[in-house]
Amino acid sequence: MKPSPDTCASEFAHAMQQAFAQRPHHIAPKWFYDAEGSRLFDAICELPEYYPTRTELALLDRHGPEIARHIGPGAELVEFGAGSLRKVRLLLDALERPASLLPIDISAEHLWASAAELRRERPGLAVHPLAVDFTREFVLPPAHGPRVGFFPGSSIGNFEPGEAGALLARMVHWLDGGLLIGVDLVKDPDLLHAAYNDARGVTARFNLNLLARANAELGANFQLARWAHSAFYHPPLQRIEMHLISRCDQVVQLCGQSFPVAEGESLHTENSYKYTVAGFQRLAQRAGFHPEAVWVDARRWFALHWLRPAHSLR
Ligand code: AVJ
Repeated sequence: MKPSPDTCASEFAHAMQQAFAQRPHHIAPKWFYDAEGSRLFDAICELPEYYPTRTELALLDRHGPEIARHIGPGAELVEFGAGSLRKVRLLLDALERPASLLPIDISAEHLWASAAELRRERPGLAVHPLAVDFTREFVLPPAHGPRVGFFPGSSIGNFEPGEAGALLARMVHWLDGGLLIGVDLVKDPDLLHAAYNDARGVTARFNLNLLARANAELGANFQLARWAHSAFYHPPLQRIEMHLISRCDQVVQLCGQSFPVAEGESLHTENSYKYTVAGFQRLAQRAGFHPEAVWVDARRWFALHWLRPAHSLR
């Protein structure tokens, strides 16, 4: 596909050009999620090595009644990074008379398909999907009931701790009811390594899909065989890093611009920060939340935090 001036003016085009114009090369992980990227992420969630989804679903199932008591009746749920809406179904089942659901996701097609399915399933529930990038300015419609945030999957780990704190500080003002947020815990690096280097190579395909997306949307010339998936845990920063490593010297073409890339050079595509329970509670407190409850599985792999806006407490 030839790049049209329109696609080359897109935010994704700008982000890719920025990524290759600076060194080290890096880009925000939100760009993984075109329709195929969302599909690959759903496949990751089914992998035997990828424990976070299963562990968080089990926590929601097991502690649903207690979580529902904290949230209270008639809540309006706002889900951030809603994806396939699998987890929120468990939460909706536990809640007393949920007023409505506002699922937010950057991946529009995927979101609309998931929202349509949920509507068919639950005709009594008002579902208002919002296809926006919630890291940017956007407007929430007026609330109908206490507004409660749901931010599962440890997607908060994609942000630098400072950015994560700033996002939580914005959420304090949107959510008068509270925030239920899933956070992956610091653990044995071997378990983390396996979760981001699965035997079937789905995570590698997810990582490489960023380049396939650039080929499809921007007419870029990436040959996927010239790039290698790399994911490792960096203990001092408590984060998984994902990279795409150039297997040779090559020239990347993006919207009429050429960027030479050396063999071994990396494009840093994702960070996934891990937190201790206390470490995350400190971050939440500095952002203006009061940590009211936390649920952790027996193996201490994943934490589900219930936070109240400090300003809502007398
Ligand atoms: C959706 C950001 C929570 O960091 O574990 C999965 C994305 N990347 N495998 C994560 C991801 C590689 C995931 N989050």
